[in-house]
Amino acid sequence: MSQKDQEKWDRKYLENPALREPRPPLRLIDTWVPPGDGNSQALDLACGTGRNAIALARKGWKVEAVDLSPVALQILTEAAETAGVLASIRTEMIDLETFSPPVNSYDLILKANYLDRSLIRRTIPALRPGGLYIVETYMHHADNAKKDANPDYLLAPGELKTLFAEGFEILHYDEFWNESYEMHRMRKQAIVAKKLST
Ligand SMILES: C[S@@+](CC[C@H](N)C(=O)[O-])C[C@H]1O[C@@H](n2cnc3c(N)ncnc32)[C@H](O)[C@@H]1O
Repeated sequence: MSQKDQEKWDRKYLENPALREPRPPLRLIDTWVPPGDGNSQALDLACGTGRNAIALARKGWKVEAVDLSPVALQILTEAAETAGVLASIRTEMIDLETFSPPVNSYDLILKANYLDRSLIRRTIPALRPGGLYIVETYMHHADNAKKDANPDYLLAPGELKTLFAEGFEILHYDEFWNESYEMHRMRKQAIVAKKLST
């Protein structure tokens, strides 16, 4: 694990009160994720302080929420306890740069505001046939407000569709301007892709 990355993210969460405030979960969860049946298993990659993990747990899902920042995971744990869903969420401190979860383990994989293309490839086998892979993150755009964003972490136009071109049915794809509660006005891309059975 990159100690420097972990320290960077811990510091961000500790020094920036706005990042510790509860934020609305992805709208995609409301629209596309069916209620869990108590055994439905989700994986929230780079979960941060848990806005999406908590929303999934509220819908009846069991959630594995993973991130490299122990500070973020502690905030998540406290928020999940307040929301009454702590029993449905298991947190783990993990470096996603080397993470390859076991095959056929999840009915839903979600990745929000974090881009690692190889992580998508490494985690697709962990999604069960019929399961949903949901990604929402930032993309290149000339009018993005954050001019110093690392270009490696920004999607090219249409790129998410290419990452799920094989073995998936794309249920939803969109490019749009982010919500006003985010720090900088940025263009985003989102996909909901259903894994095919064969
Ligand atoms: C912008 S936040 C997004 C948090 C959350 N997904 C959300 O949308 O609210 C990015 C998160 O990625 C985590 N992260 C960065 N590099 C990571 C790595 N190599 N392994 C695991 N988590 C990482 C950070 O700790 C941070 O919580």
